[in-house]
Amino acid sequence: MASPYDILGVTRDADEEEVLDAYRERVKETHPDHGGSARAFQAVKTAYERIEAGEVSPVSVHEGREAVEETDERPQYRVEFLNYERLDEHDWSLDDEDLFEKAADANLGNADYGEITVEESETLLEAAENAGLAWPFACRGGACSNCAVAVIDGEVPIPTSHVLTQEMIDRGIRLSCITTPVTEDTQVVFNVKHMPAMEDLLLSESRFNRAYGTD
Ligand code: FES
Repeated sequence: MASPYDILGVTRDADEEEVLDAYRERVKETHPDHGGSARAFQAVKTAYERIEAGEVSPVSVHEGREAVEETDERPQYRVEFLNYERLDEHDWSLDDEDLFEKAADANLGNADYGEITVEESETLLEAAENAGLAWPFACRGGACSNCAVAVIDGEVPIPTSHVLTQEMIDRGIRLSCITTPVTEDTQVVFNVKHMPAMEDLLLSESRFNRAYGTD
């Protein structure tokens, strides 16, 4: 589980003003009216409230992860993520063998590149939202492909009932709303709904807003 500092995208030594600025920014990014989800929005609010209330000590990301690993024996899976929308800007491709190395060196924002931890009971989408990330979605049930990710490394099995073609599956495309990684370390590119090959599968988000807009 991401620490409150991870969720706001600030370092543990951030002062009050930096925390507040980051909170305002993240609240805008994750607000359901701006394409985020209620889960991500709530995660950001809770992170800020916990820091403000002094409920969490300013532990570094790595110290925090080690502490979790030492005390929590439930399986957790580390997922390194990258936003597909950044690929064009940097002239990168999903086929680049060193895609994630280049992303790590590119000084991308926390919403575009980073790591999340996925628990066994969570889908990939839920884990992203619990980390305060606003990944795209609509139906949350495998029917629209708005939540599609490309798996670059690792294994993410997919249930039988979904909208993807076999060709997509063979290319490593998965639906984050119904899948969970099973390898300790996984790399995924999210937002691949913008890939030309995905366009035919996309169902408009507005078809699902009535049922899922408030999550
Ligand atoms: S949100 Fe529709 S398939 Fe995942």
